[in-house]
Amino acid sequence: MYETIKTELSGNTLVISINRPDKMNALNQQVMQELALAIDEVYTNKNIKSAIITGTGPKAFVAGADIAEFLSLSTEQGVELAKRGHVIFQRIEDSPKPIVAAVNGFALGGGCELAMACHFRIAAENAKFGQPEVNLGIIPGYGGTQRLTQLVGKGKALELIMTGDMVTAQEALSLGLVNHVVPAEELIAKTTAILQKIEAKAPLAIARVVKCVNGAMDKDVDGFDLEIVEFGSCFSTKDLQEGAAAFIEKRAPNFKGE
Ligand code: COA
Repeated sequence: MYETIKTELSGNTLVISINRPDKMNALNQQVMQELALAIDEVYTNKNIKSAIITGTGPKAFVAGADIAEFLSLSTEQGVELAKRGHVIFQRIEDSPKPIVAAVNGFALGGGCELAMACHFRIAAENAKFGQPEVNLGIIPGYGGTQRLTQLVGKGKALELIMTGDMVTAQEALSLGLVNHVVPAEELIAKTTAILQKIEAKAPLAIARVVKCVNGAMDKDVDGFDLEIVEFGSCFSTKDLQEGAAAFIEKRAPNFKGE
């Protein structure tokens, strides 16, 4: 069904692999369209409880937007390109089910932005991160100026985006850009293990966690008020009854996401 990405259901986790290894998995418009469809699948398919986004091959997660598509754009087309990217990446960030980036190599430009749109990131030891757009005469256009600032703070974000420098996985770990660094061969197993832990929790609670934590980054939202409302709404779920009953009966809960 897809040509530029691969999807595989592993347990309840959809592994989405960007699949243009001969172009360092660069994000052309076809990749973006197919990625949007795969994210729709994560939202709507009840068998999917979480997703991993990764890159095909040993070298690249995603080495950016496809530079070949930039050359002939007008200002208006540039705006449209960025808008389309923002919509797709926002949908990843807002996903009620966990979506984690397993960064297996270069995560540059749009690749770093894709990883940052995921809920969090696990990196292989050989991963490299950067926003090198200024080398090309452009700036990050898929949310990088905002999400990098949110993740690492203004000073570091400005240095990284203004110099275009790459950082290693270990440096990304110390910056808070990634949560864990593991040997490449353990990347998917480590990411899957974390997701399985989350999948065992109450799905509606997880969705509310995403909404409230994202609310902390949204200047139009009072995140404290949002938390109060979302906390209250947990009390109308069957999952709360199940979670509390399981605790009292000293057994594992069996959440249905209801
Ligand atoms: N867009 C389009 N094509 C890309 C690409 C991108 N962002 N990144 C890599 N490619 C292509 C190369 O053009 C090359 O294609 P070719 O074999 O047809 O010439 C192929 O992928 C392999 O890349 P190459 O540069 O030969 O590999 P490398 O190992 O020497 O270097 C990188 C790897 C990632 C350091 C280098 O490809 C690079 O700097 N890419 C661009 C990064 C960037 O500026 N991203 C931001 C874009 S906004």
